[in-house]
Amino acid sequence: MRRKLAAGNWKMNGTSADLAQIEAIAQAHTGALSEIVMAPPTTLLHRASEFTKTGPVTLGAQDCDKHENGAHTGDISAEMLIDAGASYVILGHSERRADHAEHDEDVSAKAQIALKAGMRVIICLGEELEEREAENTLDVIAGQLARSIPADISGDRLVIAYEPIWAIGTGKVPSIEQIAEVHDFIRARLEERFGSRIARSVRLLYGGSVKPNNAAAIFAVDNVDGALVGGASLIADDFSPIINALDAS
Ligand code: PGA
Repeated sequence: MRRKLAAGNWKMNGTSADLAQIEAIAQAHTGALSEIVMAPPTTLLHRASEFTKTGPVTLGAQDCDKHENGAHTGDISAEMLIDAGASYVILGHSERRADHAEHDEDVSAKAQIALKAGMRVIICLGEELEEREAENTLDVIAGQLARSIPADISGDRLVIAYEPIWAIGTGKVPSIEQIAEVHDFIRARLEERFGSRIARSVRLLYGGSVKPNNAAAIFAVDNVDGALVGGASLIADDFSPIINALDAS
């Protein structure tokens, strides 16, 4: 059985005052059935770890460098993230692909280094609106999947987030059929490449404008094992109902 996962990505939002939101989530969901990951900015990880040493919340980072250590000014290694309290890392988010020209091969290299350090990885994939309109979505996903996921993986440490770029931060959400089609496709591709035992243990998250009012319908889709949530994860009162919907699914 795959454990459901609700992951909150704060992106470049949050200072010390916002740690109270993580504390509130940790307190409100002590009995959660789902796993809860909060990914605040790196600057808050260490302090957030005060609220997550025990309890339902695990911490995630939003990126890591593809090198183990060394002369890479300003970059942060997987080992440093673990030291700061993170056990997950989000990789290949479309904003990093766009803002930092990260390619699938970089994502794969980062995943290898993070897995080697002992982290779990959440690898993001997703099509642009033009690609969806040209009916190229599955080809785009197949390419990203083939190149971004390293050959040597353990299924329970890999999470894949399907995040259509046009749904991120826009309030637009694909139809239930579109979500189902892509999630089924990803599961089938994983099975072809890694075999069914590994493929069945990889959790597939949907991401892009998940809100309290649409979460239950999305979580009812086969092969959706949870969500990667941006805007609605910043405030505990918004994220909590999403976690409850996942618990109930
Ligand atoms: P959103 O972001 O929930 O604000 O659309 C999702 C994401 O980018 O992970």
